Amino acid sequence: MFGNFFKDKKILVTGHTGFQGSWLTLWLKLLGAKVIGYSLPPTKPSLFESLELENDITHIIADIRNLDELKKTISSNEPNFIFHLAAQSLVRESYEKPIETFSTNILGTVNVLDCIRNSTTIKGCIVYTSDKCYENIGTKQAYNENDRLGGNDPYSASKASSEIVTTAYRNSFFSKITSPRIATIRAGNVIGGGDWAKDRLIPDFVRAVIRKEKIKVRNPEYTRPWQFVLEPLCGTLWLAAKMIQESKYAEAWNFGPPLDREQFTVKMMLKEISSEWNISEPIIEEKTDKELHEDKFLNIDSSKAGNILGLKPVYNLQEAIAETVNWYKHFAEQENEIKNYSIKQIENYVNHAKQLNLSWTY
Ligand SMILES: NC(=O)c1ccc[n+]([C@@H]2O[C@H](COP(=O)([O-])OP(=O)(O)OC[C@H]3O[C@@H](n4cnc5c(N)ncnc54)[C@H](O)[C@@H]3O)[C@@H](O)[C@H]2O)c1
Repeated sequence: MFGNFFKDKKILVTGHTGFQGSWLTLWLKLLGAKVIGYSLPPTKPSLFESLELENDITHIIADIRNLDELKKTISSNEPNFIFHLAAQSLVRESYEKPIETFSTNILGTVNVLDCIRNSTTIKGCIVYTSDKCYENIGTKQAYNENDRLGGNDPYSASKASSEIVTTAYRNSFFSKITSPRIATIRAGNVIGGGDWAKDRLIPDFVRAVIRKEKIKVRNPEYTRPWQFVLEPLCGTLWLAAKMIQESKYAEAWNFGPPLDREQFTVKMMLKEISSEWNISEPIIEEKTDKELHEDKFLNIDSSKAGNILGLKPVYNLQEAIAETVNWYKHFAEQENEIKNYSIKQIENYVNHAKQLNLSWTY
């Protein structure tokens, strides 16, 4: 898979204790990579602890804003590639903690890129920004990579800024053919097992089911580009392999669901999740803290990734929801087996992708 690119490579994953970082770390380990993780401590519960990843990697707990610590980590571990996922990742929290959000998401990216400037081992880096980095003009339009960056809330603005910082570093310091190659990923909303973040739809649903409570949502009619967690991660891994082969891939990429997929609202998602969970539809209680702005429509156009990288979604939305619900049910019933179950989910996903003959499966 991925042209065998990851075997024995030293890969630094920032944000490895988070939801996507834990899945990425698990997958990288299965591909034979040596992973160095750099993040704040895992939350409780956390996918990172459920997967017992601490024993499989070089596990560093430190702040991405601490440049000296990051430099020390890079000089002592000499990674070949960086996946930069560490971020304050929540829109609501960004209203409560704007300075932390801007400093983590912007200065964190600056620190990572500046360390690359001074490293002789790092050949490339993928910076995770977000589908929310676009200037949202309030329509159902799907934004593509040439659309204007923007952000109506601190989180979105911090991710747009991280894009601008990355472009500036690429053009200023990494423009030679021999320079490290830097790309960004603007991924749509991710669902999958093991997300325990607050104010996200799936974890909020799971917590409401466990506590037998009504689910509180802010905006049941809002749409988001939902996708299964392994979809943007396989795109990330494939892009890393491609951009090391050819510098033309070192640019910005949208990774999201196909444009012809029906746009699901939060309410439609809840209906599907409940039916998959085999429970009656949850009673939705609208949250009262609705005065803070969130964009009603959000969609991204990922045709470029389809046309140039040959990426195609492996699962439709129903399959993505089924995989997600099955993970949480399995976790509730057999928590000590969840690592094997998560590995099986990656294997099943790869087997489906192989049947579709997707380029990254070779
Ligand atoms: N979850 C989504 O739907 C989604 C969609 C698009 C983009 N993203 C982006 O993808 C990346 C990963 O998201 P996630 O869903 O795994 O989020 P998450 O909140 O589960 O994980 C965030 C990770 O960043 C680390 N982190 C936070 N602040 C830090 C700091 N100051 N120093 C060091 N580490 C720090 C955390 O410890 C954690 O490991 C983030 O950059 C996020 O903005 C997420």
